[in-house]
Amino acid sequence: MHRSPRVLVFATPHDVARTLARRVAAALHANPKIVLGLPTGRTPLLFYEELVRLHADEDVDFSQATTFNLDEFVGIAADHPGSYRTFMRRFLFEHVNIDPARTHFLDGAAADLTEECERYEASITAAGGIDLQILGIGTNGHLGFNEPGPELEARTHKVTLRPETRRSNAALFGGDPAAVPSQALSMGMGTILHARKAVLLATGESKAGCVERVVMGPITTALPASLLQLHRDAELMLDEAAAIRLPG
Ligand code: GLP
Repeated sequence: MHRSPRVLVFATPHDVARTLARRVAAALHANPKIVLGLPTGRTPLLFYEELVRLHADEDVDFSQATTFNLDEFVGIAADHPGSYRTFMRRFLFEHVNIDPARTHFLDGAAADLTEECERYEASITAAGGIDLQILGIGTNGHLGFNEPGPELEARTHKVTLRPETRRSNAALFGGDPAAVPSQALSMGMGTILHARKAVLLATGESKAGCVERVVMGPITTALPASLLQLHRDAELMLDEAAAIRLPG
């Protein structure tokens, strides 16, 4: 029986990053106009580092690619040091030949946030949808900023961040969880599940409990990442530490 998501386990986080970066390079080669959905967080850093290396050493070409980031904090300017736009510039976009006009972000400082969410959904549709959505996972099982709860929203929307999520994003705000905005905008679970392919990266033992539930547990809004079981082409790329609770 086809199991979703498929699970790939690598020895180290570097191996995860190298393999995914190679795959993205191959996908860019096959389709230079690929539309990528991109995450932030500590987990994708090695992957971005590897993409930068492939661009420098092997001329991997990003010039026609389009990107949509998953989420953004509310109430901070795009160029704030803690914004996800700043994060993406710093770790990827400034180091590859991507056209800034093709890199899309939610604007958490927009005057009308509902309109902003609608604009984002419309630009994803206008770009032809997301070909490859890369994801991280929060320690509480969130995807993007879709937090666990009694219900989930399908489309891009405003969310109130849980205390554990603000704590895990504190490094972007001088280490102070109280300085992390309490609200954010995020693609919805429907936006994420409509991507043609989804790859979730998880490394380290702190993710092992969630990973076990994503793979073995029921589909539940209490663990948004469990909805990946509904996707036809979803994959988990794990290091051994994150896979430690999966049956061998
Ligand atoms: C943030 C992002 C998520 C990301 C999560 C995990 O909350 N909004 O998209 O998956 O962090 O972060 P890390 O990779 O640092 O564990």
